[in-house]
Amino acid sequence: MSEPPGTGVASTRLSTLAVAAGRPARADQAPVNPPIVLSSTFHSTGTPGTEDFVYGRHGNPTWLPLEETLAALEGAQLPALAFSSGMAAITAALDLVPPGGHLLLPQHAYHASVLAARELQQRCGVQVHTVDVADTAAVIEALHRAGAAHPHPVLWLESPTNPMLEIADLPALTAAAGELGARVIVDNTFATPIAQRPLSLGADVVVHSVTKYLAGHSDVLLGAALTNSPELHARLHERRSVGGAVPSPWDAWLALRGVRTLALRVERSQHNAQQVAEHLHRHPGVLQVRYPGLTDHPQHERAAAQMNGFGSILTVRPHGGAAAAEELTRRVRLWTPATSLGGVESLLERRRRLVDEARTVPEDLIRLSVGIEDAEDLIADLDQALGRAAQ
Ligand SMILES: Cc1ncc(COP(=O)(O)O)c(C=O)c1O
Repeated sequence: MSEPPGTGVASTRLSTLAVAAGRPARADQAPVNPPIVLSSTFHSTGTPGTEDFVYGRHGNPTWLPLEETLAALEGAQLPALAFSSGMAAITAALDLVPPGGHLLLPQHAYHASVLAARELQQRCGVQVHTVDVADTAAVIEALHRAGAAHPHPVLWLESPTNPMLEIADLPALTAAAGELGARVIVDNTFATPIAQRPLSLGADVVVHSVTKYLAGHSDVLLGAALTNSPELHARLHERRSVGGAVPSPWDAWLALRGVRTLALRVERSQHNAQQVAEHLHRHPGVLQVRYPGLTDHPQHERAAAQMNGFGSILTVRPHGGAAAAEELTRRVRLWTPATSLGGVESLLERRRRLVDEARTVPEDLIRLSVGIEDAEDLIADLDQALGRAAQ
């Protein structure tokens, strides 16, 4: 079996890599887990510029096992760069758009990513164009228009998008972008590398809110950026060192501990999501369910072709409008009404509660992050809440 670069693990299977990558070298009495190095500075007597660890904002040994493991999972040739949050990784990646450059953004993207892009527009004259990422021809046309106005536009993608769960045709869009010299950055938070590996589908950069599935327990904020390009890696590294949005060693260690069970958790939560989606689809109290694993999702075939599973996020719109949706989030007992996603516990949230959510997201839309509890219990709780919300 071939060994992926740098991991020393004799497997390319993701469930094995999640467990076995990023371990200390095997030696008698060596620890099985990497140590946490709590030091903001390091002895420094070598040639300046050649030392790996000088000051804690530039590098900490505790980050490396996590960065190596994330790279192995995403199939990146270079280590991931860990950041203090998903948004820290995202703003560093957005800084790859040059002043006056063009940025194409999904009309439904994570709302703070949209805010960060709008800030770039204000501060640096970046032209932001929102696109429907499910409409491949429209995105390619927008790329051509942007490329004609300014060289090397950047296409920012989420697939599935947050929260509307649109699926972009990643191979077609990365190929079209490549022909135009445009860069493609994919926020892979929703899919996780278990379901989708954008670098292998042609993306230039992948970003993650590690806070979500990768860490997986709703107890740590962390982000990551990955690329195979040494030039982009160096620029992202510099953004991290200069911007200073670095993870604490504790958090990096905790995130790696979460990653160890990623494959198991994703397998279970995707299975649960399919059960919950199919049940809600048949439920008389439900107006609409959206889940890429349902055959009536407009891009179901596309998701089936490019993903390994359909993720663990779905949306539901109960009959009765926003008031019924709010009531449902108050009536659940097992599900937790809270923002965020990707933890072991199931969460739900009416997205338009957030003042910055896109106005095109329906008022009554609830986003469900399906966890790893028993699917029957999750369904029973939704049933009782839907029944009481409709009264
Ligand atoms: C798709 C997506 N990307 C990025 C982020 C931001 O990550 P963080 O909260 O770790 O900064 C989120 C947070 O909800 C998200 O859903």
